[in-house]
Amino acid sequence: MSVGRVLAVANQKGGAGKSTTAVNMAVGLARAGRGVLLWDLDPQCCATRALGREPADRHPLLATEGDRRPELVPTAIERLDLMPGCRSFQDIYRLANGDTDSTSAVQRRVSELGTEYDFLLLDCPPSLGTLTQTALASASEVLMPIPCEYFAMEGLTDLIHMIRDVMRQPGRQLEFGGIVLTRYDCNMELTEEVATEVRDFFGDIVFDTVIPQDAAIAEASRLGRSVLEHAPRSRGARAYIELCMEVLDRD
Ligand SMILES: Nc1ncnc2c1ncn2[C@@H]1O[C@H](COP(=O)(O)OP(=O)(O)OP(=O)(O)O)[C@@H](O)[C@H]1O
Ligand SMILES: [Mg+2]
Repeated sequence: MSVGRVLAVANQKGGAGKSTTAVNMAVGLARAGRGVLLWDLDPQCCATRALGREPADRHPLLATEGDRRPELVPTAIERLDLMPGCRSFQDIYRLANGDTDSTSAVQRRVSELGTEYDFLLLDCPPSLGTLTQTALASASEVLMPIPCEYFAMEGLTDLIHMIRDVMRQPGRQLEFGGIVLTRYDCNMELTEEVATEVRDFFGDIVFDTVIPQDAAIAEASRLGRSVLEHAPRSRGARAYIELCMEVLDRD
């Protein structure tokens, strides 16, 4: 039985482009003919809304019999399903605060679903808490979006330590899937400085594709669509398609 690639999209920095990258890659990979599940692990539920869906009332993995809902939600995109984010504070608290039953339930479900999809994308919250740790422990690769702005590298060493810790645990399969430079603004000198610094530091794991700062991307998330559907000819859409190609090439 073949097992799909599980990509945790992580960076504890807020607004780094995690959800945007997870959503647009999910759409791009589904359009490239792959079966994709996007799992929204962030209580902010941005990825869920960016796909035009509403957060669930209870987390499907924790819901009791009475309020059980279909676990996975189909999307407007063929071959793309969504595990929606959840608005129950109680459930998020249980998932995020070391309730080992529920965190291992996430890991178990990810590995079961890995046999049903070619790609599982896990959109992590902007923290190094249990949800991100669980995502890393469940993933085969970590994909880190880094925005080309001040302090882009600040705090990244904590995430890298966490990744290394997970890699060292027996039975774990986590690898560095890659780093993607986001919010690249060619009119700003700083952008190029950050890009150079990131490439010098991380080397080959940085994707060649950079995601430009593009109003079409922000507009699309506001409208609950991917930029690939909203503005297929935009620079942002083209960049996300190129990024998908690079991810497929790195198989
Ligand atoms: N390349 C881009 N060009 C323009 N706007 C962007 C770009 N990438 C992301 N944005 C916008 O910036 C905001 C934050 O992006 P996003 O939600 O993807 O970041 P995040 O890392 O998931 O944030 P959080 O840490 O809060 O989960 C969103 O409104 C999104 O539409
Ligand atoms: Mg997000």
